[in-house]
Amino acid sequence: MDAAPSPPVTLVIFGATGDLTRRLLVPAIINLTQSGLTGDDLHILGIGIEPGDDAMLVARLDDFLATLDDGGAHAASDGWKRLRQRIAYTSGDFTRDEIYLDIKARLARAPDGNAAFYLAVPPQFFGTIVEKLAQHGLTSESEGVFRRIAIEKPFGTDLSTAKALNARILAKVSESQVYRLDHFLGKETVQNILTTRFANMMIEALWNNNYIDHVQITAAETVDVGSRGKFYDATGALRDMVPNHLFQLLAMIAMEAPNGFGAEAIRSEKSKALSALRIYTPEEAATHGVRGAYTGGELNGNPVTAFRATKDVSADSNTETFVALKLFVDTWRWAGVPFYLRTGKAMTARDTEIVVTFRQVPFAQFRETDVKRNLPPNKLIIQVQPDEGLSMEVSIKSPGLSVDTVPVSLDFRYADKFDIGKMTGYESLLYDLFIGDQTLFQRADGIEAGWAAVQPFLDVWATEKKEPETYAPGSMGPTCAEELIRKDGREWHALGVTLHNHSRAKP
Ligand code: BG6
Repeated sequence: MDAAPSPPVTLVIFGATGDLTRRLLVPAIINLTQSGLTGDDLHILGIGIEPGDDAMLVARLDDFLATLDDGGAHAASDGWKRLRQRIAYTSGDFTRDEIYLDIKARLARAPDGNAAFYLAVPPQFFGTIVEKLAQHGLTSESEGVFRRIAIEKPFGTDLSTAKALNARILAKVSESQVYRLDHFLGKETVQNILTTRFANMMIEALWNNNYIDHVQITAAETVDVGSRGKFYDATGALRDMVPNHLFQLLAMIAMEAPNGFGAEAIRSEKSKALSALRIYTPEEAATHGVRGAYTGGELNGNPVTAFRATKDVSADSNTETFVALKLFVDTWRWAGVPFYLRTGKAMTARDTEIVVTFRQVPFAQFRETDVKRNLPPNKLIIQVQPDEGLSMEVSIKSPGLSVDTVPVSLDFRYADKFDIGKMTGYESLLYDLFIGDQTLFQRADGIEAGWAAVQPFLDVWATEKKEPETYAPGSMGPTCAEELIRKDGREWHALGVTLHNHSRAKP
């Protein structure tokens, strides 16, 4: 189905001179403009603390686009030529009234009055900006005029701060105006999880504890903390990735079928799945979660500075750069099925994937086969990145006179079938913000359910003050992560086995 162009809107970006704006938001809007999904009635009003004017912001964006690794495509595009005429900038302090009076005057001159306020700023400003916008009447909607607020992560740093932030925001605007971002939801493969499940009888029919042994969700990165030491030391791998990104993947895997494909139906089912995550006692949290921090070393031929030696990281930092958890979703469908999650920096491969491992066949029929070696369980692998696609591991008979089985994988790569182009992942999120579709945004209850499930880990690690176990850059993570899963008689899926290097038959 062809999507209709978005309505006229002024995108007011708080934090317009920052990295997110130039690296993701502006290229995504250029892509939307190129594909006709936004038109010349989209205006950008950038707000920043740095002094400057419209020409300054446009020149900076020009310079940045010229550095993109796209052969100059964005910089030279017709979309950018048109968009750059419609970019304004105003500077000021987000905590003072002047800036809001200025925004008000500018929006009053816009013919339509629609506005989407995008908070690409440090989280300590989220509450203040929303309150100031409301105080100046900028969040009031009227017949045919919308006012929406998009909020980047991190949304809170634990359960109580997330609740307090939700309460502060929802005291001023309604939930239908709030678009809490999780950029994982902009990824094509993540959106495809729902289609994979609910458009395929052969998958959904087996999607329960009768047939599924366990689920693994991994987001491994090769990048290290680099220049983000200050943010990362205060945050750590758990807060940075789990209650948001990994739980979005988990919710899509674990949710029940929604009674429609509307935003509320889908978000309700996702929230229900997240609120069914077992809340551990401190003793359970201590044994169901492990942490690691990378040492110095080498990765792909490049030197890696140990996390604790990274700029702006305390030399005795107790922050983790790797985390692995074993969780349960306490519902009829998932009773007894462990969900193993892991994420880390400076690991051997960039690999974001969901691996659903089915149960062993109940009985090995085949003569002259070694069941353990030759009848591995079926797996469905959803490769989120890189090399987006799906893979199904099945057993077949190997050619020959005797009956012998061999596992093979049936692979589908998006890139083989579709021209997926160079998208930033923010296209669908921005488009949905403009058309008012909240499906790909997090609702308050879902965010709080996520934090509630990780809170016992935060608490137990804060009290026990045990140092994270070290791991070498370029490895699969610390040994404790191997032990976490091995003690259940299972193994992590190997990292870096993406579809392009998948061995077709593993004898
Ligand atoms: C961000 C985290 O939200 O997600 C980063 O703050 C992480 O630490 C990034 O690197 C991962 O996103 P992606 O899309 O590169 O997998």
